[in-house]
Amino acid sequence: MTIPRDDDPDGKTAAPPTTRRGLLTATAGVLGIGVAATVLGPVAVMLGQPLRHDATEGEGDFIPAGPRSLFAGDKPVKVDLYADRVDAWNRVVQVKVGSAWVLAQGGTLVALSTVCPHLGCGIDYVPEESKFYCACHKSYFAIDGAVETGPSPRGMDALELQDDGQLVSIRYRRFKIGKKTQEPA
Ligand code: FES
Repeated sequence: MTIPRDDDPDGKTAAPPTTRRGLLTATAGVLGIGVAATVLGPVAVMLGQPLRHDATEGEGDFIPAGPRSLFAGDKPVKVDLYADRVDAWNRVVQVKVGSAWVLAQGGTLVALSTVCPHLGCGIDYVPEESKFYCACHKSYFAIDGAVETGPSPRGMDALELQDDGQLVSIRYRRFKIGKKTQEPA
């Protein structure tokens, strides 16, 4: 059907044909896109939300390491730190985040990461020598964590520790290996 223009009642210079069906189809299309965006937008945000979640809750937060009485001795105590692990769709309760050596220095508790700054092996304590030791490439660390011998480029990494007199908590962090200075991984 051709719609005659007002200034051309005979339709001799007819405008491009426009049908009622075409108008309805176009309007329905626009409305459909709007409705789809309204409904699917929040769904897409909801589905994507878990992907932005940290892999492990607790890493970066203070994690309880044990009662204060556990660290009353004069030897370093190794503690394992646990937190919930959360991936895109699952939560696994209380997985091991890392470990730390806790010891008193000048009457104050400190925490040192067990991860060797050389290539990331585990650091043990040698009670006979009152030193820390990484067996992978034979790095020795003094009781305060300073590197003494071996290829480790820096001393053991210090971790933040909270001691409220009842409970000791540690903020677990990972640091870049192979660097002279302690840099967050
Ligand atoms: S990883 Fe510890 S000395 Fe190499």
